[in-house]
Amino acid sequence: MKVENLKNEIDIWLKNYFDNKGTYNKKIYEAMKYSVDIGGKRVRPILHCITYEMYDKNYNRVMPIAGAIEMIHTYSLIHDDLPCMDNDDLRRGHPTNHKVFGDALAVLAGDGLLNEAMNIMFDFCTDKGKDELSACKIISNSAGAEGMIGGQVVDILSEGKKISYETLSYMHRKKTGALIRASILSGAIIVGASDNDLDKLSSFGSKLGLAFQIKDDVLDIDGNESVMGKPVKSDIDNDKTTFVTTFGLEDCRNKCKELTKECLGILSDLSKDTSNLEEITKYLLYRQC
Ligand code: IPE
Ligand code: IPE
Ligand code: MG
Ligand code: MG
Ligand code: MG
Repeated sequence: MKVENLKNEIDIWLKNYFDNKGTYNKKIYEAMKYSVDIGGKRVRPILHCITYEMYDKNYNRVMPIAGAIEMIHTYSLIHDDLPCMDNDDLRRGHPTNHKVFGDALAVLAGDGLLNEAMNIMFDFCTDKGKDELSACKIISNSAGAEGMIGGQVVDILSEGKKISYETLSYMHRKKTGALIRASILSGAIIVGASDNDLDKLSSFGSKLGLAFQIKDDVLDIDGNESVMGKPVKSDIDNDKTTFVTTFGLEDCRNKCKELTKECLGILSDLSKDTSNLEEITKYLLYRQC
């Protein structure tokens, strides 16, 4: 399986999902679909599918869960960009959701995507076993107050403040790391991976998630707006406390390299074909968007 082909399959699944939905509420589907379809690297659903595929070639089985994960992520971006949060006008190379549909519809589109993800996961679990349920529980937990929301709260409360390393690390592990780790772990749980493999993949996911947000902080400084499709210097404008404001660019670049090395080390310890996970791990280190 080629990662590029998988990305196309995920794009198509998402594109088709909202077809023929809605009556008097049609507008909300338009707003939800807008942010899902305008772009995105699809890192989380790709991670979910390729982890599953290490154990079972038929990854199409988990495509709905991959789609649900991307909906949760897209909802987080819509809300993250709102004027009351990071107040950004550009996302995935297009005007942000609230710029097109207004603040109220953007709030509802985010809520709608989160709920749609839950609907998809409940449907998936119907008539299935404990593994599917526990995988979906990990995903929903990673998005909640003990996961992404927890991290976003600390992000907002830390604006303009000096915070401890522990607080900073909590923020990154939760706001971004949790859903990335859950995307990987849930794929492995559904396919019935051993406890030993789950431990390793959990640690891989945590490190990859942390590296991902540190790199995102670096790109906010040294990235290119037209390549990234979102504003640079947004963190500076919002007086955010990030890994870069705490440790500087050079240390952050080194930390990303170090974490990537540790991720690859964990993968080499798995007795499976981890080449796709290795490829995406390296791609994330060198990405420019
Ligand atoms: C951006 O996520 C927000 C973070 C959690 C750092 P991505 O970099 O995955 O954004 P898309 O999905 O490719 O647009
Ligand atoms: C966002 O972190 C994390 C989310 C859960 C959305 P950022 O605020 O740094 O993400 P970008 O840089 O706007 O994509
Ligand atoms: Mg933010
Ligand atoms: Mg932001
Ligand atoms: Mg950022």
